[in-house]
Amino acid sequence: MILDGKAVSEKRLELLKEKIDESGLYPRLATIIVGEDPGSKLYVRMKHRACERVGIGSVGIELPEDASTERVLEAVARLNNDPDIDGILVQLPLPSGVDTTRIIDAVAPGKDVDGFHPYNLGRLLAGNPIFAPCTPQGIMTILDEYRIPTEGQRAVVIGRSIDVGRPMAVLLLNADATVTICHSKTKNLEDEMRGADILISAVGKAKFVRPNMVKEGATIIDVGINYDEQGKLCGDVDFEGVRERAGAITPVPGGVGPMTIATLMENTFRAARLRSCCNDTAR
Ligand code: GUN
Repeated sequence: MILDGKAVSEKRLELLKEKIDESGLYPRLATIIVGEDPGSKLYVRMKHRACERVGIGSVGIELPEDASTERVLEAVARLNNDPDIDGILVQLPLPSGVDTTRIIDAVAPGKDVDGFHPYNLGRLLAGNPIFAPCTPQGIMTILDEYRIPTEGQRAVVIGRSIDVGRPMAVLLLNADATVTICHSKTKNLEDEMRGADILISAVGKAKFVRPNMVKEGATIIDVGINYDEQGKLCGDVDFEGVRERAGAITPVPGGVGPMTIATLMENTFRAARLRSCCNDTAR
């Protein structure tokens, strides 16, 4: 079975548009991008386009490559204090001259639609999230939409980043999976992978996951965005080989990527609802 993230995201965006229309709210997302990285600029443009589609207002702030940490902090502070802004997204990675941790820590937790602030990561760890990071939350939505059970399943997450690996492991744990996190120092990685009923790869290496590394019938989720020797977009998984053994698998493109954006839209609507009815208690 191919897990069609594109189709799931389309369905979720349609549903979200209806919910936003019914709510009478006009949520607003602000993005901050620092520098000229073409990939980051493309992602941010896609996020603004998705906003337009579902009825979310968006503003984009562009800062130069050589912007200081202080300058980015100022932009964040202005958006934190702007009552018309519900969600703030600082596109990562930031240039090496900017202190990413200070920037993430500066975003008001109630506007942190990326879910990267320690307050939101802490709530996730406590099993009581408000905003979970968009990529892993989007993966949970795919599993849910395709009725793939997590309870009691062995889930193996490869990668321990704060935007994917760690929150992914916690979301799966909160959904009653038995979770292993693997990373560059893991011993016998292939043995761990072969034990997985659900394998999530966030490694960033083209065709890293080969058919002999997956259990027959496993669910394979590919978070990778890489380019092969021919310059063609591909994931972490050797898709053509692995699909023969897998029970279910996400393609690249058209798998996890579209779900990240759909989840960002859902988080932004959530931020707007919380701010409108709860007087910013999540802040
Ligand atoms: N860069 C790559 N993925 C993401 C994401 O989900 N959020 C942000 N802010 N930056 C990213």
